[in-house]
Amino acid sequence: MRYVPGQGVSEKEIDETKQGDVFFKEQLAGGLDDKKFYIESYGCQMNFSDSEIVASILGEMGYKSTRSMEDSDLILINTCSIREKAEDTVRKRLRVFDKIKEQKPGTLVGVLGCMAERLKAKLLEQERLVDLVVGPDAYRSLPQLVADAQGGEKGVNVLLSREETYADISPVRLNSNGVTAFISIMRGCNNMCSFCVVPFTRGRERSRTPFSIVAEATELFEKGYKEVTLLGQNVDSFLFKNPETGEETNFAKLIEMVASVHPDLRVRFSTSHPKDITDEVLHTMAKYENICNYIHLPVQSGNSRVLKLMNRTYDREWYMERVNAVYRIIPDCAISSDMIAGFCTETEEEHQDTLSMIEFAKYSMSYMFFYSERPGTLAARKYEDDIPLEVKKRRLREIIDLQTKISAEQNQKDIGKVFKVLIEGDSKKSDQDFKGRNSQNKMIIFPKKENLEKGMYCHVLVKESSSATLKGEIVEA
Ligand code: SAH
Ligand code: SF4
Ligand code: F3S
Repeated sequence: MRYVPGQGVSEKEIDETKQGDVFFKEQLAGGLDDKKFYIESYGCQMNFSDSEIVASILGEMGYKSTRSMEDSDLILINTCSIREKAEDTVRKRLRVFDKIKEQKPGTLVGVLGCMAERLKAKLLEQERLVDLVVGPDAYRSLPQLVADAQGGEKGVNVLLSREETYADISPVRLNSNGVTAFISIMRGCNNMCSFCVVPFTRGRERSRTPFSIVAEATELFEKGYKEVTLLGQNVDSFLFKNPETGEETNFAKLIEMVASVHPDLRVRFSTSHPKDITDEVLHTMAKYENICNYIHLPVQSGNSRVLKLMNRTYDREWYMERVNAVYRIIPDCAISSDMIAGFCTETEEEHQDTLSMIEFAKYSMSYMFFYSERPGTLAARKYEDDIPLEVKKRRLREIIDLQTKISAEQNQKDIGKVFKVLIEGDSKKSDQDFKGRNSQNKMIIFPKKENLEKGMYCHVLVKESSSATLKGEIVEA
């Protein structure tokens, strides 16, 4: 879901591309006057959503999107800085783009997103073939920066904003299945988790006007979309104050407004912060059938001392109480998590607390990482990154193994149950099967039936399960 590399071709494919082919394809696609851009996105859903804003801005400039980088005049990479590995991946992709530039010298290469923000003009020194560097709040300056770069002048805009939400820009849906879409409801983050680079790369938190969010959801529904995921680093702190009336809209109210667009439009959201998720949100979820019973509630660590060092501002007991509240108010809710193994000074006993939290919270799934020190963060400045890599990796392995076991157990409990499923398309393995998700965000694979197509709801009886998926068959509602 989140850490998906963007659409792209392998390095081998690039090596095999002949210069003549590139020219021929350009001719086929409508001549040299049609400017085209190619974009790859890395990192979280926010970045994928931002790429759709960028696509809209470039569209206004007359650029068309292409899935083939050799075909494009402008290659963009929307980058992530969350862990060292994320940045390594980007640098590898830049080597591939260099080769394209060698073959087709006029091609422009732009680095967008969090790595652009973190490294700023330094990126131009380190990556000599990059033409533009644009931070997450500066995409409106793309037309100027691209024009400058065409004139041979490299450009950087990494200004962060306290207001920018791109509320008036209608995103161009990239790689869309036509059924599910993301809507950014806020930007930035005001929390200062000590391990995290996001507050530095995304700036201060700001919420978008509820009116524009509801308008975007309505437009998507009218176009045939059946599910929207509201995105923010900490959606529970969404708060919009109407400057004229003073009226405040909090997150509970916002999901109610979006759920009221149409009962057939499913509403999801991510990410919830354990310190901020309120009973009001949980009760609103319970009240509306179309608000999905699924919460991504990253714990990071199951130990209170480590949580304090992480500056997460809740402890183990608080987190457990929130998990209990979720299961009390929404009994069939699924909860997922993020966990970091081997944070600074973490002991074996403290690591065991993370393992026991997986058992306690019964996560349906988790994103699991070992700690990667990020320059400039609070942890990098204050604490020594003292857990040896082998220990971090071993602890991570233990976390992954336990989560896989718990996911398998949780999924097994679904055998014999009937779920309402939104059909997202053909399953990856067979065009005889559909794939779709239930309210709990679990993927279910089932044989197709006539008169059904993607974007429709159906009821599926689960017959088999693994740690990752459920299999079943369609039944009457
Ligand atoms: N806003 C979300 C997290 C966004 S980053 C939240 O607060 O939950 C996604 C995940 O990456 C985090 O939840 C964390 O588990 C992981 N992460 C962030 N910084 C990291 C680091 N320095 N090393 C390893 N994992 C990290
Ligand atoms: Fe990073 Fe914490 Fe903000 Fe999440 S809440 S983006 S982990 S600082
Ligand atoms: Fe990565 Fe930036 Fe998202 S650092 S996880 S792309 S907010």
